[in-house]
Amino acid sequence: MSTTGLKTVHVPLGARAYDVVIGPGLLTQAGVRIAPFLNRPQVVVITDENVAALHLESLRDGLAAAGISMSSLVLPAGEATKGWPEFERAVAWLLDQKVERNDVVVAFGGGVIGDLVGFAAAVLRRGVRFVQIPTSLLAQVDSSVGGKTGINAAQGKNLIGAFHQPVLVLADTEVLGTMTSRDFLSGYGEVVKYGLLGDLEFFQWLEGNGPALAAGDMDARVQAVARSVQMKADIVARDETEQGDRALLNLGHTFCHALEAATGYSDRLLHGEGVAIGCALAFELSSRMGLCSQEDPSRVRAHLRAMGMKVDLGDIDGELPGADVLVELMAQDKKMIGGKLHFVLARGLGQAFVTADVERDMVKAVLMDGLGASPLMVCEE
Ligand code: GLY
Repeated sequence: MSTTGLKTVHVPLGARAYDVVIGPGLLTQAGVRIAPFLNRPQVVVITDENVAALHLESLRDGLAAAGISMSSLVLPAGEATKGWPEFERAVAWLLDQKVERNDVVVAFGGGVIGDLVGFAAAVLRRGVRFVQIPTSLLAQVDSSVGGKTGINAAQGKNLIGAFHQPVLVLADTEVLGTMTSRDFLSGYGEVVKYGLLGDLEFFQWLEGNGPALAAGDMDARVQAVARSVQMKADIVARDETEQGDRALLNLGHTFCHALEAATGYSDRLLHGEGVAIGCALAFELSSRMGLCSQEDPSRVRAHLRAMGMKVDLGDIDGELPGADVLVELMAQDKKMIGGKLHFVLARGLGQAFVTADVERDMVKAVLMDGLGASPLMVCEE
């Protein structure tokens, strides 16, 4: 088997440790890579209709090359799939396939499929092993690694779920070539987040290599995914169930979740776009609180702008609610602890930290500025 261009990141979690293999052509190697985990030469694969149309036959061939057969369930594409009805359908299908406790389930898709299938694997027969084959940049650098699985509730996103680590992640970077530019750049929002939260050198590398990476440079893509996954693996190894450090991965997410709620979780704002705007706002807030220099938020925004990404609240199509409403939406975020808003702020590029010590008025002033209102109005209210 050729390993040219592949990188492996180990996620060291004791009995739940696993490898994330990153690089082009991994679908063709899926069989030999998954075979060591199988008790019998068959797997069940759950995917969505977009991924199935583009890549399911390649996966079938890759498995067949190692003598492994597969049966597959194809769910509708999109966030609406990540709820009880499709979850129930997936679990019922797995049971109909007579999946045994020692079998392996494969999640083949983006974040929605990874989260839903991982959760199905977590509860099926009190837990079966699963392999993640993430097909979007966002899933490769974030959601497929670290064991967060789950579905959405009427009350909010990701409120039902379990920590259930995969036994293997295969991140085939060639598959990213079929993503739309908008979806790719949305995933890139999570990549930038890693540089901003903990690695200035990586952020500098992204400033230099981001455009080539977006244009399709495979080496740059592999390096960016591998560095992001390594950072996530380091954090997850320190804090698997988010008692502390893992919250750093939520840089930009408190703003993002409010913006996603305000735009109805629609196409107006993709998750990674909200993360990118949220990171810019988190640095703006940090700068106003005197935690980092005024140049830092400008540099974050300059890079996002150079990549052709959404940067400011004004880049979101359509009307947004006022700052008061956005702050209220933040207060409904599940990152609230003891009734206090927890923010990830930064002392500089690559130096994020978690705090509950944030004045609501300060958050509101940043949002009002972003919405184009005068910050002085905060004092007048
Ligand atoms: N996506 C954030 C985390 O995995 O903790």
